[in-house]
Amino acid sequence: MTSRRKMLQYGTLSLLAPWSLNSKADVVATPWLRNSDDSLGVQKLAPQVTNWHLFDDLPSSSIWSYKQDSFAPIIHAKQGEELSVKVDNNLPESTTVHWHGIRVPNEMDGVPTASQPAIEQGDSFTYSYLPQDAGTYWYHPHINSTEQVSRGLVGPLVVHEQQDYPVDRDVVLVLNDWLLNDDMSLSDNFYSRMNMSHDGRFGNVSTVNGRYNPLLRFRPYERVRLRFINAASGRFFRPDFLNIMTANLIAIDGQPVAPRPYKGLTLAPGMRCDVVVDMGAGAKGDAVQIADSAYKPVRLMQIQVDGQPVRSSSLTTMPQQLPRNPLAQPDLRRAKSLNLSLEGGAMSMSMMKGMATGMFWSLNGRALKTVHSDTKPLMNLELNQSYRIKIKNNTNFAHPMHLHGHTFKVLNEEPYWTDTALLLPGKETEIAFVADNPGTWMLHCHVLSHQASGMMATVEVS
Ligand code: C2O
Ligand code: CU
Repeated sequence: MTSRRKMLQYGTLSLLAPWSLNSKADVVATPWLRNSDDSLGVQKLAPQVTNWHLFDDLPSSSIWSYKQDSFAPIIHAKQGEELSVKVDNNLPESTTVHWHGIRVPNEMDGVPTASQPAIEQGDSFTYSYLPQDAGTYWYHPHINSTEQVSRGLVGPLVVHEQQDYPVDRDVVLVLNDWLLNDDMSLSDNFYSRMNMSHDGRFGNVSTVNGRYNPLLRFRPYERVRLRFINAASGRFFRPDFLNIMTANLIAIDGQPVAPRPYKGLTLAPGMRCDVVVDMGAGAKGDAVQIADSAYKPVRLMQIQVDGQPVRSSSLTTMPQQLPRNPLAQPDLRRAKSLNLSLEGGAMSMSMMKGMATGMFWSLNGRALKTVHSDTKPLMNLELNQSYRIKIKNNTNFAHPMHLHGHTFKVLNEEPYWTDTALLLPGKETEIAFVADNPGTWMLHCHVLSHQASGMMATVEVS
């Protein structure tokens, strides 16, 4: 009797209601073990259809994954050491792997036709590059992305600093969501016009590392680096620690920031943050619920502190500042200025046209959804020149704008480096960077339904 009833309940919105269910999934804490299994060198991904339990007490779902019976396998690399990843495409369609946020040579960027031909069904491709930047990155396909990512094709890329960062444990937490039918299968309506013209595709179940409300176990007084990655196709996340432990933010989108108390950070799709938490003494048997408060608060995961204490009391020192990555500083005075206008969406002028063509969004008035050899770049940038781009969101929706091949600076009161800048409705921001990576690069919204309906362009650096 597991339960038609339970399944129905899980299949509907009640799943996202706060604190309503109890799950015992116990899976997540995976420290980086320096053993043979986890060696650097050639690593393998085999995108395929597989079964995966999103819930420990319910039937599995058929998902797409980079590894059999698995979800989001972690790729470990070391800053400054060549990384090779062989990809065997066992999917029923072609795919590619894009390395989100890490600066790679253009031919390793995984964008079909702009940087490589698609990896056809049954074919292989080996990506190799030298990660110059340490930090928390991720990978996903760049073809039919709304469907492939929503089916589960995502994974973390952790580039370890040259000197090990001093924590007791390093844990990756992949956040995403799934749109499940009552029988636990994935809803296959990936390109609904409603989603494309509004906030994108939302699931009815949010998971951490592919598990609903999992339990993480830590030891008393342990200092842990949590690497959050929003790998959802449309949903935002905002992990909320509710003061149950000391939490300090040390990196945003892979790039170090001066350590500061973590007060909650909204992660739009594609965005990451690294948070160092210091556990307290713990109380026998009690797990503390951690919420996602991006919208109405819902369950995200549970944390339980037990076992042998790691030390005799919590560390009270601020976590160390991470060394900065070797990013070229844009010369703001000599920078050339450009403008980028985000347009379209429901209630806009282009709405009617979108209903007919499936193209609801545009960048500087141009809508694109796939790249061809004759695609005209939206911007032609001169190699090694500094640029400032004013981005104005002229829509009623939020857009995380992602540029490939470069890490850029957001020039607000406290400038920070990123690869994905969140533009709230009606807002404006300015970014700056040195166009130091030659090639044809994507510039797009990371709400994948928006990308699929026009909010995409190429930028040529030569
Ligand atoms: Cu994470 Cu072009 O994407
Ligand atoms: Cu968007």
